[in-house]
Formats: sequence, structure tokens, C-alpha cells
Amino acid sequence: MFETLKQQPADKILALIQMYRDDPRADKVDLGVGVYKDATGLTPVMRAVKSAEHKLWETQDSKVYTGLAGDPAFGDAMADLVLGDAVPRENVAAAATPGGTGAVRQAFELIQMARPAARVFVSDPTWPNHLSMLAYLGIEMVPYRYFDEETRGVDFDGLIADLKTAKKGDVVLLHGCCHNPTGANLNSAEWDAVIEVLLSTGATPMIDIAYQGFGEGLEQDAAATRKVAAAVPECIIAASCSKNFGIYRERTGLLMVTSVDGGARALNQGTLAYLNRQNFSFPPDHGARLVTMILTDDALRADWQAELEDVRLSMLGLRKQLAQELQDLSGSDRFGFLAQHRGMFSRLGTTPDMVEKLRLEHGIYMVGDSRMNIAGLNAQTVPILAKAIIGAGI
Ligand code: LMR
Repeated sequence: MFETLKQQPADKILALIQMYRDDPRADKVDLGVGVYKDATGLTPVMRAVKSAEHKLWETQDSKVYTGLAGDPAFGDAMADLVLGDAVPRENVAAAATPGGTGAVRQAFELIQMARPAARVFVSDPTWPNHLSMLAYLGIEMVPYRYFDEETRGVDFDGLIADLKTAKKGDVVLLHGCCHNPTGANLNSAEWDAVIEVLLSTGATPMIDIAYQGFGEGLEQDAAATRKVAAAVPECIIAASCSKNFGIYRERTGLLMVTSVDGGARALNQGTLAYLNRQNFSFPPDHGARLVTMILTDDALRADWQAELEDVRLSMLGLRKQLAQELQDLSGSDRFGFLAQHRGMFSRLGTTPDMVEKLRLEHGIYMVGDSRMNIAGLNAQTVPILAKAIIGAGI
């Protein structure tokens, strides 16, 4: 029966992992998939995660099922981390999911279930897997302008004009911080304007927040999500623990849906549990438990925050170094945007041909749309990248 299947397109980001592994060059540079690497190229297990794992090994006496929405303590801890006190906890439905991707996927299914004709507005560009999942589910997407190819900042006027065409029953997918793939982000006043448009159109925001703590800081990176959730009657939030806790393979995420009253919350909560049951039954628990332990223990939390801040600052340092090297080599400040962008990624803003040239001639791997994972660099590879960029005439 399976001869009817068609070859599916390879995920453009994940395909790079294998290409990089297969490249025999010793001086190759991996700026592909969004994984943090330290100066030695390792993706370490964070100290607090190790400590929590040790403690868990010593104390866990059962691995019996949790609830369909995961351990409520995880929902509480994460709702607090992401939302602070922006929305009363009793108005937040929350379900653990297999990673942030799982949260996004469950959110899309929830939207489809509630409003089969809903359109989802997506930034142009957005994380390719957003588009892939929406297409797979047959949900209509409407791109809204986001990236200004000239300034490499946000095309704010275009964004507002496009979002104004959304209607009640539509969903506007926003990146809470550290926009993936561009690295260009809205400022606080611009978020206020987005909120105004959401309120005037009645469209429902969905916020994907996968990099909290990688941009301006743990609290600052949640500010936009909190502001939006506090202002609108209903908000969908997909949060990931993969990056900020470095637990990529544990698949730890949370889907939240806010509402204005507890009755709506109960309906949402039941639906999230139902959707989990249909897709995978109980969500993975190991990573969620580690996160809960870290967030609810003062010492572990302080250690985690300190290490996360080091990670953030190291990425910021690499951004500044790269912008400076490029300025020195080009004699212009046309790469200054690299120091302004935040998060793991920056879109360099060059053609797929140039991206291929960098890979073939220099062993530098980035996504075809010229998205670079800044955390894939180190002090030694920054000058190599800068030279390659200028040498290629970018
Ligand atoms: C990325 O964008 O590189 C990460 O979110 C990893 C992934 O799953 O694509």
C-alpha cells in the first residue's frame, strides 16, 4: 500500500545537520540548526539541569503516568516564568507538550477545532516548520510583511498594514522574542501598536516563545508576551524549554490558552487534555520535571539563571565581534544590524547562491535564506566568517 507515498521535502534546517556531519573539512563552521554551542563547540548540559537530574535519580520512586496535561506543577512554574502576573493563573489553561514544536502543533489543531475556517497570519519570513505544519493541517496562511531587506530591521508599517486585514476568527502568529529566522524584533512601542490592531480587528494572537532569556534577558524577553496576554481576551502561547534549559532532546514545552474567566478556562483545559490524548496521550515528563525542580528551588534557579545569562552574553559578544570585523573589512557599517539583532539568529540578507558559495568554498553552513546561528560561532571563527562574507562580495 505504501507505493502511493510521495517523497516529502527534507526540512531545510535539519538537512544541514547531515550535510555538515558528512563534510570532511576540519575548519568547517556550523551556523545551521538553532542549538547553542559554547566556545569549544559543545552543547553542554546546564549545571542546574545536571543537579536536578541527580536529585531526581535519587528521589524519584515511580514513573507512573502523570496527567494528560502533564504535571500541573510544570504548568504553574512555566506559566509563572512566561506570563508572570500578567494573567491570573485561574484563567490560564495549560498543557505540557513534546517540545515547543509540539505546543505549536497542538495550538494549530486547537485553532482548527474551534474555527475550521480560521486563517493564520504568519510573519514573512517565519520558522519554516510553522508553514510546513499549517500546510500539513490544511490551515490557510496569510503572510504579513515583517523583514525589511534594506535595513534588516522590521518593516513595521508593512506589518501593521497587513495585520489590519485580519478579522475576528483569524489568528496572528507572533514570535514573543528573538524572531526566528531574522533576529529583527519589535520594540515596546511597536508591540503596543500591534496590540491596538489586535483589539480593533478582534483577531486572536498566538505567541511562539522559544528563546526566552536569549535576547535582552529572561524578564525582558517575556515582556511582549505578557503585554499582549494582559490586553486581549484570549491568547494562545506556545513555550519551549529546549533552548533556555538546553534540554533539546527531552522534548519539553507548554501550550497555554488564556481567557477572561474560569469557565472558558475549564473548557480550554479539557480540550487541551483531549488533544494530547488523541495525539500522544501523556506528554513526556522527564524534562518537564527537571524544569519544575529548577524553577521552584531558589538555589537551582539562581544557578540556571546565571548560566543562561552567560549564554546570552556570549552570543551578544559574538554579534558585536562579527559586526566589528565586518566593519573593519568592509569599511562600512552596513553590517551594523548584526549587533542590533537579538537571539540566536540573524538573517544576513544574501541570496541562496551566495549561501551555497560560502558552504562550498569555505565550509560555512547556514540556512538557504541566509539565517545564521550566531551561537555556532566562536572568537576564532568570527574572523573566518567575516573574511568569507566580504570575500564573496556580500
Ligand atoms: C531552529 O529553528 O533551528 C530550531 O528551532 C530547531 C528546529 O527544530 O528547527
